[in-house]
Amino acid sequence: MAGGITQAEYWNGEVGTRWARNQTVLDAVFAPLTEALFARAALRTGESVLDIGCGSGATTLEAARRVGPEGAVTGADISVPLLAVARGRAEAEAAGAAPIRFVEADVESADLGTYGQALSRFGVMFFPDSARAFANIRRMLHPEGQLTFLCWRALAENHWVTVPREAVVPLLPEIPQPPPSDTPGPFRFAAADPLVALLRGAGFGTVTCDAIDRDVERGRADTDAKAAEAAAHVALNLGPTAHLVREAEPDLRARAATAVTAALRPLATGGSVRLRAACWLVQAR
Ligand SMILES: C[S@@+](CC[C@H](N)C(=O)[O-])C[C@H]1O[C@@H](n2cnc3c(N)ncnc32)[C@H](O)[C@@H]1O
Repeated sequence: MAGGITQAEYWNGEVGTRWARNQTVLDAVFAPLTEALFARAALRTGESVLDIGCGSGATTLEAARRVGPEGAVTGADISVPLLAVARGRAEAEAAGAAPIRFVEADVESADLGTYGQALSRFGVMFFPDSARAFANIRRMLHPEGQLTFLCWRALAENHWVTVPREAVVPLLPEIPQPPPSDTPGPFRFAAADPLVALLRGAGFGTVTCDAIDRDVERGRADTDAKAAEAAAHVALNLGPTAHLVREAEPDLRARAATAVTAALRPLATGGSVRLRAACWLVQAR
């Protein structure tokens, strides 16, 4: 649950629509992390791939390009607005790539066929029952198949969140409490040992969990001041800091924008705001 609503309601409501609208910005932010994900997955021509929580389909399309027309790719997600963007992109961009099937499905329980590879860019932290979900993913892989995914390390290590967050928290009527452990959310797998144990319990015999850090571009413009403004806009519309002000009054949102822009301004250089993102790159087979 996210603030008393189900994940399906969360990703089909205003949050899903915002993600869908900002697909280009998000793909640019995630680009260095996406590169690391695909380098590790090492997809081969002709493979079948399941993209878990595929969102607006950037990684699904990339997988389809990599496995080529002899392969097959499924993108699965519970968010109707994000799947609509993904389908539109596939029509426009998928020439020469593997056939792509986008399905509205809950990967925790759906049977979506059998795959040589499963992958996910930040789409595996939102299952109500992670043990059930990873066991289901294991069942959908060939015996020699593998799962490769990115998830976030601890919030404190992710400066792309902490910098805007620390500017917003003093403005809030209440200090936000951390979510109860093992509930759906971006930082749920911050600790590696329980994550590795979870994957082993789901039937994966070999699990690697590598820390990767990348500076991600949160805003770009022709001046540093505008880049800080752009980065503040992204922070307050998408992701964990946006979540804090999701239901706030316009006045608080305006003050938050001023505070976040001021916090990001000293970090802008050459018309760009880059902040550290800290992830686990996980592979399980
Ligand atoms: C942080 S977004 C990442 C989206 C996409 N992978 C990307 O990198 O742009 C998480 C995605 O997981 C999806 N999701 C959450 N729970 C899911 C579930 N049970 N089954 C399938 N997708 C799910 C959400 O709808 C959302 O699109």
